[in-house]
Amino acid sequence: MKEIKEMAENLVEVRGLKKWFPVQKSFIETFLARRVDYVRAVDGIDFEIKRGEVFGLAGESGSGKTTTGRLILRLVEPTEGQITFDGMDILSLDSKAMHALRRRMQIIFQDPYASLNPRMKIGEGIGHGLEIHGIAKGKLKRQMVLEMMERVGLTPAAVLYDKYPHQLSGGQRQRAVIARALILHPDLVVADEPIAMADVSVKALLLELMLELKREFNLTYLYITHDLATAKYICNRIAIMYLGKIVELGSLYEVYSHPLHPYTEALLSAVPVPDPRAQRRKVLPKGEIPNPINPPSGCRFHPRCPYAKEVCGIEEPRLVEVGTDHLVACHLRV
Ligand SMILES: Nc1ncnc2c1ncn2[C@@H]1O[C@H](COP(=O)(O)OP(=O)(O)O)[C@@H](O)[C@H]1O
Ligand SMILES: [Mg+2]
Repeated sequence: MKEIKEMAENLVEVRGLKKWFPVQKSFIETFLARRVDYVRAVDGIDFEIKRGEVFGLAGESGSGKTTTGRLILRLVEPTEGQITFDGMDILSLDSKAMHALRRRMQIIFQDPYASLNPRMKIGEGIGHGLEIHGIAKGKLKRQMVLEMMERVGLTPAAVLYDKYPHQLSGGQRQRAVIARALILHPDLVVADEPIAMADVSVKALLLELMLELKREFNLTYLYITHDLATAKYICNRIAIMYLGKIVELGSLYEVYSHPLHPYTEALLSAVPVPDPRAQRRKVLPKGEIPNPINPPSGCRFHPRCPYAKEVCGIEEPRLVEVGTDHLVACHLRV
């Protein structure tokens, strides 16, 4: 049982978060250029994740979603900004306090094969965290692992316990990764494209499982995806990222029914609609995603935006509230 205490409504708060990665260059190149270039993977974002919600982070590949997830778990250190978890400023925690906190924040990676140790039996892999955090070992650990395996549908658990990752199907491996994250009873699960690599036939089952487990274990999810169709199925609120910035943020209903940013509109136009008569206007973004080392001036989306005005190339739009639980960063909308 979790102790009952005064709880902040927001489990996570992110303020002015930036992560710039230095670009690896040879000494001579750096010397001649007289400067270091940076990939602005995350370039000043603010958002909150409310306790118990599924908060989506969506956008094309390279927009900074994974980096944001890793920053929140402090798997990478930010260049700038603040991150609070359950009221704690996590960036001020020492390594011991951070280790203790890790139990409460777990991650599910996109590629279950790469995130399971190939030389560790499935059961041992799932129970590894129990040992690391001094929660259980030996028989008790085995018992806890078997129960969790049953819960996520990895059955017959006693048989699969002793298998190695390569002996499982893709769907089973993803269930193992989910079991490993949940066995520590975390508060927050960062799910980074958790079903992207699964077979189409398994995707819906995995999402359903994640929702059931969320209810059962009182979880909060940060759900990272490039796919707005699956995000619609699982998220309560969603933020749309483009080149290291949040361009739109709001409740699922607001963002999907009244998208305000041309980028969101374009992404949504690619989502299939059940009623063919309700075809959305197709406004797919022109061109490639620009280079995050040298992002476009003003609004980063302006070179691809069908509605861009002069101001869009000059002034960077701020993310501002435009309705109940709906924020947008676009000169055309404010
Ligand atoms: N460790 C790293 N070193 C250098 N560049 C990185 C690193 N991680 C990510 N990037 C770059 O940061 C940008 C955002 O990456 P990422 O957060 O993985 O985006 P997404 O998950 O939305 O695809 C990309 O341009 C990527 O190449
Ligand atoms: Mg990613």
